[in-house]
Amino acid sequence: MTSRFSRILGIETSCDETAAAVVEDGQAILSNVISSQADFHAQYGGVFPEMASRMHIEAIHPVITQALSDANTTLDDIQAIAVTRGPGLPGSLIVGVNAAKGLALGGSLPLLGISHLEGHLYSLFLVERAAPFPVLCLIVSGGHTELVLMSDHLQYKRLGGTIDDAAGEAFDKVGRMLGLPYPGGPHVEKAAIGGDAAAYPFPRAWLKGTHNFSFSGLKTAVLRELKRQTPSIRPGEEPPPPGLPIADLAASFQSAIVEVLAAKTVNAAREHKAKTIFIAGGVSANKALRDATETHAGDLPVRFPPLNLCADNAAMIAAAAHFRFMAGQRDPLDFDVKPNWKLE
Ligand code: KG4
Ligand code: ZN
Repeated sequence: MTSRFSRILGIETSCDETAAAVVEDGQAILSNVISSQADFHAQYGGVFPEMASRMHIEAIHPVITQALSDANTTLDDIQAIAVTRGPGLPGSLIVGVNAAKGLALGGSLPLLGISHLEGHLYSLFLVERAAPFPVLCLIVSGGHTELVLMSDHLQYKRLGGTIDDAAGEAFDKVGRMLGLPYPGGPHVEKAAIGGDAAAYPFPRAWLKGTHNFSFSGLKTAVLRELKRQTPSIRPGEEPPPPGLPIADLAASFQSAIVEVLAAKTVNAAREHKAKTIFIAGGVSANKALRDATETHAGDLPVRFPPLNLCADNAAMIAAAAHFRFMAGQRDPLDFDVKPNWKLE
């Protein structure tokens, strides 16, 4: 798009990671600092929004200072401040946005509000500058499961998404039922190793004729199977008793969710004659999803972020901001957060 120079400080606080990063030209990561609250929220089995916001307040300035220092730079050498404006938890978003506004005002720097979903997509452009458009994108995270067609940089058409649980949310809820720590996704993937993916024929909701997804039936089917095996069980409230086939349950659940995600993504890519498939967001770290999508896609190239950029980070926000900055976007200092912001 452009090779003009930018050095952008990105800030991300949409959920339970306080993150700041300095990125040059949308591609060179000079620093990428992430302070995760996941260990704290684990005791509640999910993010506790009020505490998330308070913990962002404590972490935000040290994290930004660390990002500038790791990049060996100061605000004097930064061209713009970029911050996640939404979607996300309102109380969490506000902390990052207010910090960004303060820095922009104090340093007389331009401010850009960036979509968290766009950020996840640009985690791929941090490594794939020349991906051919159109790109069919699947964003799969704890809060989102979205199929988006990207015709060019910053140009999106939403094709569909989940009508109930997000894919990561389903992983997290099933993880909790199986007595695995929060966030469940990586633990379910680990528990599934060595399990028989064909042990339980859990339902696949194809929602044919649409690009939508539904995972709540799958989650309920896992719950029903647990109760069938141990009627006294209280999944999610207390750990399952020993002896349950956790590996088979995890593998069967994972294969059901991954099969639907992979097949529907590749179908959408073919229907829209996409030249590349991008899969981004926390769940894109899942190896079974990576393998299934590549198998379905055949000759169609499928790209994933490097593992360290799948989950929430601020480098992806600064990367997206580079393209918006070069296109002339500057946001007023009084903009508000957009907790339900859609990518369109
Ligand atoms: O993108 P992200 O860090 O935060 C949101 O924007 O939501 O995604 C977090 C989600 C969680 O639901 C987590 O369980 C899931 O990504 N996740 C995974 C894996 N690693 C993270 N799900 C399945 N397999 C994984 N390996
Ligand atoms: Zn995310």
